[in-house]
Amino acid sequence: MTSSEFAGFYKLTPEERLRFVGEFAHLDRTELDILATSSALKIDTANRMIENAVGVMPVPFGIAMNFLINGKDRLIPMAIEEPSVVAGASHAAKMARSKGGFQTSSTRPVMMGQIQVVGCADPEKARVSILASTEEILRKANEQDPILVSMGGGATALEAKVIQTIVGPMVIAELLVDCGDAMGANAVNTMAEAVAPIVERIAGGRVYLRILSNLADRRLAQARVTVAKEDLGGAEVVEGIINAYAFAASDPYRCATHNKGVMNGVTAVVLATGNDTRAIEAGAHAYASRSGRYSPMTRWSKDANGDLVGEIELPMAVGLVGGTTAVHPIARIAVKILGVKSARELAEIVAAVGLCQNLAALRALAAEGIQHGHMRLHARNVAAAVGATGDLVDKIAEKMIEEKKIRIDRAKELLAEYSKRA
Ligand code: MEV
Repeated sequence: MTSSEFAGFYKLTPEERLRFVGEFAHLDRTELDILATSSALKIDTANRMIENAVGVMPVPFGIAMNFLINGKDRLIPMAIEEPSVVAGASHAAKMARSKGGFQTSSTRPVMMGQIQVVGCADPEKARVSILASTEEILRKANEQDPILVSMGGGATALEAKVIQTIVGPMVIAELLVDCGDAMGANAVNTMAEAVAPIVERIAGGRVYLRILSNLADRRLAQARVTVAKEDLGGAEVVEGIINAYAFAASDPYRCATHNKGVMNGVTAVVLATGNDTRAIEAGAHAYASRSGRYSPMTRWSKDANGDLVGEIELPMAVGLVGGTTAVHPIARIAVKILGVKSARELAEIVAAVGLCQNLAALRALAAEGIQHGHMRLHARNVAAAVGATGDLVDKIAEKMIEEKKIRIDRAKELLAEYSKRA
């Protein structure tokens, strides 16, 4: 297996990078062509994916390098419009290598479907009656998805609770479903709808909602990393990162931004693999609030050696089968580049990338500041925005960085000046 470590990958042309990725992941000619041409998602496919389709909205698809996860080299596909995210992940992943990279784990892929029952004469009695019918309800649920059941998944348990609400008490039946390699929304929603009449009859109330919960706290992915203080830039940077974490843990204004940095990595991989970014975002933020206080998704501390230790745990409802991942041509290639064979393996990698992305942001913030890394790409974007093309983009960007004037008006002046000279 080739190493994912590659110094100066960013200096290659997109074609050279693609050649490397193709060799690493054994992509065939068709797959390479799909990536090279940005029109891979045809309108016919888009039209089957959503309603009222009139086109497609491409975003850049990049590769984060240097990842070592559970001793295995991985290239990480990321779909994202924001500069510096891919570079940040690659940079931080490199720092993590000397101590063995990322270690990950996960729970079984269990999702919950909720069935809401209102108007029960005796809610507590209804709750107990629902639980007493667990076998019948699970049987009905599993009849809906024989394939999932044959693959070792399916509805495995039933829970029920009474909640107090502004319109009175409600009984909530909760179906727990092992979704295997699927994200599971379709399977769980179908099961919840199928068992609802039974629940309604037993509870003696009226069922309204029958829907999956995105707070997927039975489907968690964990990752851990140790980074040598020397690789980070010294003990002071370790202190800076721990202080940044402490700041986020005590202040929701900082915490939202801390977690946004985590989700920069998470969402980019989730999108690249055709998974549901909103489901992951909703679950991650809800889980971050589980103590009743919105908290950081990562934790940072130092070990006896003074090296930095980071941990993350978050819900990760991603799938490989049955959704966009299976039909979107680029999502399929992303899965191949990752080399994952199960949804759990993918979930663990996404958690590792989230932790790594947070490390990248906190390290930069604690050391040189975030703008340093942003400047070059930002300057190139500004140059392109005023109409510069080819070599002129870099020439104008370099000049604006040198002058510390990265602005549209200056880019326009430089474009006029350099175009006159040429
Ligand atoms: C920017 O997209 C993300 C950061 O703001 C995250 C953070 O502040 O930790 C850099």
